[in-house]
Amino acid sequence: MTAHFGLIGQPVAGSKSPWVHEQVFKQAGIEADYCCFNVEATSLESAVKGLVALGFKGFNVTVPYKEAILPLLDEVSPQAKVLGAVNTVNICDGRLVGYNTDGLGLEAVLSRHLGALAPLRVLVLGAGGAASGICGALLLAGVKSLAIHNRSTERAKALIARLGDLSDALIDLVEEDFTQGHYDLIINTTSVGMAPDDDKRPIDLDLFDYPLTVCDIVYKPHETQLIQQAKGKGFKVIYGIEMLIEQALLAEAIWNEVPQQQLDAARQDLLSQLETA
Ligand code: ATR
Repeated sequence: MTAHFGLIGQPVAGSKSPWVHEQVFKQAGIEADYCCFNVEATSLESAVKGLVALGFKGFNVTVPYKEAILPLLDEVSPQAKVLGAVNTVNICDGRLVGYNTDGLGLEAVLSRHLGALAPLRVLVLGAGGAASGICGALLLAGVKSLAIHNRSTERAKALIARLGDLSDALIDLVEEDFTQGHYDLIINTTSVGMAPDDDKRPIDLDLFDYPLTVCDIVYKPHETQLIQQAKGKGFKVIYGIEMLIEQALLAEAIWNEVPQQQLDAARQDLLSQLETA
């Protein structure tokens, strides 16, 4: 019998999650489907109950429900609890168990590109839901320092205060002067540069006259203005699609216990599809 998986959020149109999960189903010989559901905030609880009633085995949660989903779950993994956000829910005998594979996915992608995370001095752009999970994961991974810049300074201050409960690390607020710090890695967690506003970038990299790595979580378009500028300057780049793929593979390990070897093969196939696209 076909197993059902899906994504709830708003908006979900254009999500690449079905592309990733369907590739894993094919690779691992799993008879399953994956659908995206646009859910209104007022219908979140009934939508979740509906998925359980329809026999779904699991689902992903995206913007803006990664925090709102928590009270609807029977159990939350320790990591998701610390990050305050859930993006993957496993349904087993009607029980809903929440996980955060965004944080672990980010860690896996960064480690693959940069090796150990402990020596990294990181600048995060943005202070929304995505930034919150990413900063939490970076602190749990023990990065050397973390600085946060956001359009609205108040929101950045609120995030820094929340993160202070997670770690004793000093977290800097960067308002205007990016030269006050020295960074090994810049991560864009804002939506700036996302289609249809793909002619914009969240920061001018000409402010940095030393080599660093630039990572953009925006994956539509594949190559954002930020990534283009970074490549033009000879900086190392990490594409947003890699994080999307990684969190989905980790969800598959939870839902379907797909072995690592098959997940690695699926990742390889997905990345090579992008190269030839
Ligand atoms: P998500 O859950 O995807 O992080 P969010 O919580 O709405 O979504 O956060 C969006 C982030 O992108 C915020 O950091 C937001 O900055 P503000 O807190 O100042 O709103 C940032 N952002 C969105 N549009 C922006 C723009 N045009 N310029 C700069 N930052 C922007």
